[in-house]
Amino acid sequence: MNTAYDNNEIMIKVDNVRKTFGKKGGVITQVLDGAELEVRRGEFVSLMGASGSGKSTLLYLIGGLDRDFKGDIEICGTNIRKMKEKKLSKTRLGKIGFIFQFYNLVQNLNVEDNILLPSLVAGKTRASLQKDLDEILEITGLTAKRKQMPSKLSGGQQQRVAIARAIISNPEIILADEATGNLDSKSGAEIMDLFRRINQEKGITILQVTHSQKCAQYGTRTVILENGKTIDSDSIIVSSEKETSRAPMQYSFATQRGY
Ligand SMILES: Nc1ncnc2c1ncn2[C@@H]1O[C@H](COP(=O)(O)OP(=O)(O)OP(=O)(O)O)[C@@H](O)[C@H]1O
Ligand SMILES: [Mg+2]
Repeated sequence: MNTAYDNNEIMIKVDNVRKTFGKKGGVITQVLDGAELEVRRGEFVSLMGASGSGKSTLLYLIGGLDRDFKGDIEICGTNIRKMKEKKLSKTRLGKIGFIFQFYNLVQNLNVEDNILLPSLVAGKTRASLQKDLDEILEITGLTAKRKQMPSKLSGGQQQRVAIARAIISNPEIILADEATGNLDSKSGAEIMDLFRRINQEKGITILQVTHSQKCAQYGTRTVILENGKTIDSDSIIVSSEKETSRAPMQYSFATQRGY
């Protein structure tokens, strides 16, 4: 149960982040241009936006996979810019679980070993992980498939292995980049149910990138990335209720673009 935590604690803070690709003298793409985001403990936030708007880029920066940016990003109150590489990889391993669209499973390892691999690499023993493994196989509905090789699994099952692998290290934050992008709508809904369960029962904070309005609705809040900036969808609804002149355009833009 997600009872004993302070849900005012800011888990992810993105402050005036700017990010360009390209070299001086060549073509420079300004992908993020003053992005701002705060995610509190226990939130399940959906990040949406057009293809190429910078969603994956922002997720990689938050996860410390790319440190070449301007502005500040804090994870659990610590500025990742100020972390040495060793501390950053420790934070990445201990606090953050990544889930990507294309599962990234090791094809010659079975389900169990795929789930355990990062923890074993981080120095934990198989015996110490056994109880957590059993619980996570149960949560993800993979108990019967624990000895199966990835090639024998459906896309949805492979994605569940990737989710199990992300949660076994007991992360505080899950960053998911189009976790259902490769799945049919039924498997996608199952993955979203699983995310909701992980969020509500384990209290894990989730930031997911999605193109699907349906998937976004499983979250507690949606943020849209456009022109390098983030717009909180709550503010869109609030402003439309106040009938400000900007509201109708902002309110409808998510649906107009088919997010
Ligand atoms: N390594 C790179 N070098 C140069 N440009 C890049 C690089 N990575 C991303 N970009 C550019 O940055 C922009 C944002 O890319 P990003 O992958 O973050 O978009 P996205 O919102 O995740 O899109 P999608 O919904 O299609 O996954 C794009 O214009 C892309 O071409
Ligand atoms: Mg992307």
